[in-house]
This record gives sequence, C-alpha cells and structure tokens, in this order.
Amino acid sequence: MLNIVIFGAPGSGKGTQSEKIIEEYGVDHISTGDVLREEIKKGTELGKLAVSYIDEGNFIPDSLMIKILASVLDAKGKDIKGVIFDGFPRTIQQAYALDKMLSDRGESVSIVIGLEVDDDELIHRIVLRGRTSGRADDNAHTAKHRLENYHSQTQPLKKFYINAGKYASIPGVGDIDEIFSHIKKAIDAVK
Ligand code: AP5
Ligand code: MG
Repeated sequence: MLNIVIFGAPGSGKGTQSEKIIEEYGVDHISTGDVLREEIKKGTELGKLAVSYIDEGNFIPDSLMIKILASVLDAKGKDIKGVIFDGFPRTIQQAYALDKMLSDRGESVSIVIGLEVDDDELIHRIVLRGRTSGRADDNAHTAKHRLENYHSQTQPLKKFYINAGKYASIPGVGDIDEIFSHIKKAIDAVK
C-alpha cells in the first residue's frame, strides 16, 4: 500500500494537493480536520467536544485523536490502494501511534510530503479563505495561534521523518500543478 503523510502548516495546501494525489494514485484520504468538522456538523458528542478546540486553533488531545484515527482507518478495510494522512500526525505521540497502527497492519509510512510555505503567505491564504469558508478558525488572530502550535508541536516531526529517511521537502508556493509535479516525482521514487 501507498501510505502518504501530507505534512505542512495550516494553509500550506495539504487538502489542495491531496485531491491531486487521489486523482493520480487512487488512494483514500483521511483528513482529521474534515473528520472533526463533519462530527461538529452532525452535532455528535465528539463534535461537541471538538468544537472548542478547533475554533480556538488548539489541538484535540492526543489520546482522543489517536482513537479517532484508528477507527477511521479500520473503517476503510483492507481493499484500498493506500491512504493519504492529511493533518495527522501533528505531535510526536501521534507519529509513534501512526507507526504502530500501520505496523500492526503489516504496513508503514511510505513517504512524508512536506509542503514548505512561509508564515506570511500562510496567514494571507487563511484570511482570504475565511471570506467564504465559514470556518471559525480562518481569521488572522486564530491563524497566528494555529501557526504557533504548528511550530511548537508539529514542526519537530520534520526531523523525526528526516531521520527515518522518509521526508520529501516540497516548495509549496506558486502554481498548484507545478507543486504537484514535484510531489509526483517524490512519490514515484518510492512507489
Ligand atoms: P485541519 O483541517 O487539518 O487544518 P490545518 O492543518 O490548519 O490546515 P488547513 O486545512 O487550513 O490547510 P491545508 O494545509 O489543508 O491547505 P488548503 O489546501 O486548504 O485542522 C483543523 C483543526 O482540527 C486543527 O487546528 C485542530 O484543532 C484540529 N485537528 C486536526 N487534526 C488534528 C490532529 N491530528 N490532532 C489534534 N487536532 C487536530 O489550502 C489553504 C488555502 O490556500 C485554500 O484556500 C487554497 O485554495 C489555497 N491554496 C492552496 N495552494 C495554494 C497555492 N499554491 N497558491 C495559493 N493558494 C493556495
Ligand atoms: Mg486541510
């Protein structure tokens, strides 16, 4: 299976590039942000719990997030070509949990696609999207807080995956198709 982690700061293009990867490789997509927003929309207990974290730009606690991911992954079954993990892992604890979940299934992370975008561009994209997205976390104030959390808790994972020999650094600014052509090269090299 092709197990791709798409990694990057808020607004770096993880969702945008995931769509292209799905189209090209026929893999399934797990966006933990989308999963949580769907639960909020449905008004489930999980949604009620998640909303205060998401709206403030804070992370859902690891233990809960790991359980959610495991159940979404299990629901996919075995008859899939692979998975793009979008927005997970976000902490070292989540990265270890993902390794364990995959190895229990006889699988491993194939590659980590790291989208590199500077903070000013990220804030600009998020504020722009906030005009139409309806996401309570798409405003300059919360975006800055999301970025702080990214830098303190998520960015250290880059080193973790570099050390594992799995990190592909992709410039994430400019033409979307051109960015994807770099991603495709990196994936084809491990396929
Ligand atoms: P999540 O939904 O994952 O949000 P995020 O990581 O903050 O990232 P975004 O979805 O905002 O951006 P993206 O990288 O997907 O970029 P996109 O393609 O949309 O998480 C939301 C929240 O859920 C978290 O804050 C947390 O509370 C919680 N959560 C989720 N996972 C969790 C976990 N594992 N643990 C704990 N909590 C968790 O692009 C952004 C914009 O830019 C779009 O408008 C797009 O059109 C535009 N764009 C894309 N590419 C380009 C380009 N090349 N040039 C110009 N514009 C571009
Ligand atoms: Mg996204």
